[in-house]
Amino acid sequence: MNTIEVKNLKRIYRTTTGVIRRKHKDVVAVEDISFDIKEGELFGLLGPNGAGKTTSVKVLATLLIPDAGEVRVKGLDIVKDANEVRKQIGFIFGGERGLYWRLSGIDNLRYFASLYHVDPDLSKKRIPELLELVGLEGRGDERVQGYSRGMKQRLHVARTLLHDPDILFLDEPTIGLDPVGAREFREVIRNLQSEKKTILLTTHYMFEADSLCDRVAVIDKGLIVALDTPSALKKHVRDLSVVEIETFGIAPQKVDEIRALPFVDALSTREQDQRQVLLVQTERGAEAVPDLMSALDGMRVGRVTVREPTLEDAYVRLVGGKV
Ligand SMILES: Nc1ncnc2c1ncn2[C@@H]1O[C@H](COP(=O)(O)OP(=O)(O)OP(=O)(O)O)[C@@H](O)[C@H]1O
Ligand SMILES: [Mg+2]
Repeated sequence: MNTIEVKNLKRIYRTTTGVIRRKHKDVVAVEDISFDIKEGELFGLLGPNGAGKTTSVKVLATLLIPDAGEVRVKGLDIVKDANEVRKQIGFIFGGERGLYWRLSGIDNLRYFASLYHVDPDLSKKRIPELLELVGLEGRGDERVQGYSRGMKQRLHVARTLLHDPDILFLDEPTIGLDPVGAREFREVIRNLQSEKKTILLTTHYMFEADSLCDRVAVIDKGLIVALDTPSALKKHVRDLSVVEIETFGIAPQKVDEIRALPFVDALSTREQDQRQVLLVQTERGAEAVPDLMSALDGMRVGRVTVREPTLEDAYVRLVGGKV
């Protein structure tokens, strides 16, 4: 049996606009999404801003009720059996508050353990284990206000593991962490994987999905546009090369002109050190460079490189360059 089963999930937000003449407006956040997650699997949700990732995770975590479709967690219906589902799951949402900064790490965990009715004898044993699991051993006696952002985030993970859930939902858990903090956090995720937790992770970082996830669903505008292993997704772009051209500023019309060239499969741009880098996916590889240069009309360019495609390039192709 799959640990998580999502069938034709739909979720609409009903909002109002205007102050005097109020108008109702429906925002379809999740249009129609289906996927399964196997026991012990680390499943990634990738997609541009507003794609519907957080909304999907909130439905799975019983925080939002779906408008249509069916979601089962260990065979339990997330609407009818919400209370039972909650016992099986833990979640953290990026940039979340909810720790007591004046208390130590250990006292935070003790407090939340009593809030969740974890047996005191059990929590006494579990808290040191959890601190070790998240790499905070030896730091539990310090006040949380002195913790780095990464340490706080790892304490959040320990908090959500107090009731020993088998399933974890992590919505952009490395957002706002510096590269070292993010790397340490990925170690924690690997520890959770080796503890056989079933994990749903959302992220904007392709390399993170590539290095951690067993399978990845790419979602865009509330629909799944691809679902596969990272290496299979990369095969979508196997026959392409990526030409990176560093520019010192380029007009949007010029970008569109280049995108329309017959040998260009996909194009995206990236800001880097105050330069704008064009990323051109093409089957022609290095041979495309002279044509691209002439399309740029002798504009001053910096470094030009031709490289193999990555998962990020596959993603750009799938969601049409909106990163
Ligand atoms: N509380 C809300 N009320 C109205 N619309 C909302 C609400 N929350 C989200 N939306 C809309 O639903 C859509 C999906 O949002 P969601 O937060 O699920 O996207 P996301 O994939 O998590 O994006 P991001 O990568 O920016 O976190 C967006 O169009 C968003 O504007
Ligand atoms: Mg989100």
